[in-house]
Amino acid sequence: MSFLSTSAFLERPENVLKESYESVSQFEGRKQDHIKLSLDDRNEALGLTGFESIQLTHEALPNLNFEEISLKTKSLGSNCQTPFLVSSMTAGHGGSAHLNSLLAEACERRGWRMGVGSQRRELGDPQAQKEWAQVRKKAPNVEIFANLGLSQIIYLTPESVQEVIEALQGKALIIHLNTLQEVVQPEGTPYFRGGLQAIERLAKKLSCPVIVKETGCGFSTSTIRHLVEAGVAAIDVSGFGGTHWGRVEGDRNPEGSRSQKLAKTFSHWGISTVQSLLNARSVPGDFEVWGSGGLRNGLHAAKAIALGATVVGYAKPVLKAALAGERALDEFMDLLELELKTALFCTGCSTPGDLRESEEVVKWRSQ
Ligand SMILES: Cc1cc2nc3c(=O)[nH]c(=O)nc-3n(C[C@H](O)[C@H](O)[C@H](O)COP(=O)(O)O)c2cc1C
Repeated sequence: MSFLSTSAFLERPENVLKESYESVSQFEGRKQDHIKLSLDDRNEALGLTGFESIQLTHEALPNLNFEEISLKTKSLGSNCQTPFLVSSMTAGHGGSAHLNSLLAEACERRGWRMGVGSQRRELGDPQAQKEWAQVRKKAPNVEIFANLGLSQIIYLTPESVQEVIEALQGKALIIHLNTLQEVVQPEGTPYFRGGLQAIERLAKKLSCPVIVKETGCGFSTSTIRHLVEAGVAAIDVSGFGGTHWGRVEGDRNPEGSRSQKLAKTFSHWGISTVQSLLNARSVPGDFEVWGSGGLRNGLHAAKAIALGATVVGYAKPVLKAALAGERALDEFMDLLELELKTALFCTGCSTPGDLRESEEVVKWRSQ
């Protein structure tokens, strides 16, 4: 069974139509593969985010009490309890429904925000709204971000995209970019021509902000500049150094296969999270920078914030904790908050905003 309504399309090249009618079981099967394989450390570019090359300057005499530290953050016009984000992973259907409820409820308890995974299977699906309503009952206040891939939005009408966002009462739309993954995935959809124009169209027509994120390969300065000119409200760098989607897709294929060989050649492809944040910082304009890709503890969050990030996102480590149950997830989220607060205290900053604005707090380690 497939759900895509033909009226959702602007135009329908043959190849796009074919992939769009992918069966639900194919889509769900791939999502389950992704969950399993992303947990394997070999599919992560461990230690390559660039965070190890920087340190924050220790302040021995902060004019602060630890209890005064607040994680409150202003982002996209909202007053948020924390800068933390559960990065986009799974949408609320099939085998992932339970996981998404667990994540949404944890975010509700702790004042985090949450991105959902690709909603492409929901296009034109009248059931989607009902399924999200269940999640919303348990987590009515969480700011949730909708998610679609670039190769889908290129061919979709703004109206059909708006429906997908409204189904989950989304705060904004996240569009993900994943060139390497689409090529390595045998059933991938590497159709990116016209992508920037499609992003610009949605940024103009949707009633909510548009955020563009990578999926572990980061951003160059010029791409960020083009996206800012196209009107995006935030860029989530999702840089190299964490889950690597070339490796994950390679791992879904048999030993010695073309996909696996390709993945191996490109296993170190991408712009590191730190370099992507520096690239974003060098671009002028009215947009937020979000830091993600290989963030594994709260000190990484502090470093990303010191480099200019307003929001900090975690995918794999949150998934791992969630799969161990509600308690493990809460403990992990609690530790991240404590680690970020500790970094704030020890740099003499009372909020993430102070850290972002302090000059001289980032020091480069000599190689
Ligand atoms: C199981 C899993 C599924 C994912 N699915 C999506 C997705 O549907 N859409 C998206 O934008 N990113 C997706 N991602 C990518 C993450 O949002 C993130 O950008 C990337 O994994 C790097 O972060 P990490 O190193 O903290 O895992 C997924 C990540 C994981 C672990």
